[in-house]
Amino acid sequence: MNQREFIAESILPHLDGALDRETLINLIEIPTNSEFGDFAFPVFVLAKHFKKSPNIIAEELVKELDHTKFDEITAVGPYLNFKIDRAKFSDAVIHKVLEEGSDYGNVDLGKGGNVPIDMSSPNIAKPMSLGHLRSTVIGESIARIQEKINYNPIRINHLGDWGTQFGKLIVAYREWGDPELVAENPIKELVELYVEFHIKAELDPSLEIKAREVFRQLEDHEPEVERLWNWFKDESIKEFERVYDLLDIKFDYHTGESFYNDKMDEVVDELAEKGISEVDDGAIIVNLDDEDLPPALIKKSDGASLYLTRDLATAYYRKRTFDFTKSLYVVGNEQSNHFKQLKAVLKKLGRDWSDDMIHIPFGLITFEGKKLSTRHGNTVLLEDVLQESINLAHDLIEEKNPNLENKDEVARKVGVGAVVYHDLKNDRMNSFDFKLEDIVQFEGDTGPYVQYTYSRARSLIEKYGKEINREHMLSLTDDYSWQVIKAIQDYERNIIRAANEYEPSIIAKYVMELARTFNKYYGNVKILEDNDELEARIALVEATSIVLKDALRLLAIETAENM
Ligand code: ARG
Repeated sequence: MNQREFIAESILPHLDGALDRETLINLIEIPTNSEFGDFAFPVFVLAKHFKKSPNIIAEELVKELDHTKFDEITAVGPYLNFKIDRAKFSDAVIHKVLEEGSDYGNVDLGKGGNVPIDMSSPNIAKPMSLGHLRSTVIGESIARIQEKINYNPIRINHLGDWGTQFGKLIVAYREWGDPELVAENPIKELVELYVEFHIKAELDPSLEIKAREVFRQLEDHEPEVERLWNWFKDESIKEFERVYDLLDIKFDYHTGESFYNDKMDEVVDELAEKGISEVDDGAIIVNLDDEDLPPALIKKSDGASLYLTRDLATAYYRKRTFDFTKSLYVVGNEQSNHFKQLKAVLKKLGRDWSDDMIHIPFGLITFEGKKLSTRHGNTVLLEDVLQESINLAHDLIEEKNPNLENKDEVARKVGVGAVVYHDLKNDRMNSFDFKLEDIVQFEGDTGPYVQYTYSRARSLIEKYGKEINREHMLSLTDDYSWQVIKAIQDYERNIIRAANEYEPSIIAKYVMELARTFNKYYGNVKILEDNDELEARIALVEATSIVLKDALRLLAIETAENM
């Protein structure tokens, strides 16, 4: 039980049913002036129910409440202020964290329900963009946060591995490609071939006709064409894997768009049988005027299926395979209409579970003013950004701690952690730009600052060098420790908010606040001084390190014991 719950339960019996427990907990705030108390309950909301002025209600409630449970309860105007008994509460919090370890903050809201998460999903034969980076790290963080509240996340990389562009690519490769160059540097070469195709096709329209023919052969599984497509795909995945390895992220499925090639007929037929789709100029569409959406294109007049058709088949497949409680799509904001259309069509098909499909959009990031682009001359590769960040981290460590043992490993964690933290600290809908020099820093609102705080805590524990005796009372009452205790007990509430809003930035802000509070404690209290409270102080350091590590883990950021 955290403090808010503790307070809510003491107030609840005196409210004559005016509020339910959840509402009450959410109303409890932290006074801006801590002189007033640790928590405050604004009683305005009760005025209507009791038909009295808030000030009078506050005064009456103060008389009714059980004062033995608190240090102090006072009425100040329309507020009830509570001071918590620090000794008892800090001891309870520290014991709980040490006891539960990385399970601290777990809550069973999900009851083990399956939650497929469509994330990352880059397009093969193209470099992974910063947008795909966002989808990957936001998706991974959401997966971990959902798992923390006991859902079962299923990470799916819905690779963009199908489409007429593969006809063009294969034609370009056959005309001008060099197998050795492609093998050496697949994505770069394939992008160049693709660009070349478009330049040459302007002068020679027969290339477009050839490309369409080759794509048709691909659909018909013509072995030579299919072999090339497979090769492009394998080589692309190998490149993506390097990025996923740097990020330390693994998928449960790599089922891309092509996986649904033989699974679309079912839904297309059903749409026709139920009279939901119509033929429009040879194409098959679903009119969505009633939803204020543009018509959903199901098949082009040449019979080709579309991105949306695949997503319809994908939704059927996921519902059947995973019987999901909810199904998440972490995809850029620019695809909002696509997901609205997808859900609207499923609704017309009577699939009410489409209400459980949630598009989680995010804004655009740019790097030093540049969009990651596949166009010539303006290409910033994601892998290069990560690699450069790792190099900067290496320099920083070299300066700070030249004798550190596993420098390469720590530099990877710090360099990647800097980029990931910077991505996650902003509300996901915000668009932003970044410069590596600003974020690969041990100071400021950065990932490395939090990682460094963690390793600082670990080195205190190492210096102490003894086991903490859990039989002992571990209570602290000074102001600096108290701020840390309050931050630690607030972890669960932040997890639940982050989970409900699919918003990793809530955890990112939380962990920053915890690190800052801890560093104030570190700067103002002689933690290792040998006196009565030494063991409790170290226990608090350990509890903090457990929460820092776990909160960073929820952001998919690794920690190092020594930095
Ligand atoms: N490959 C797509 C893109 O890069 C993203 C796919 C998202 N997932 C989905 N089921 N539509 O834009």
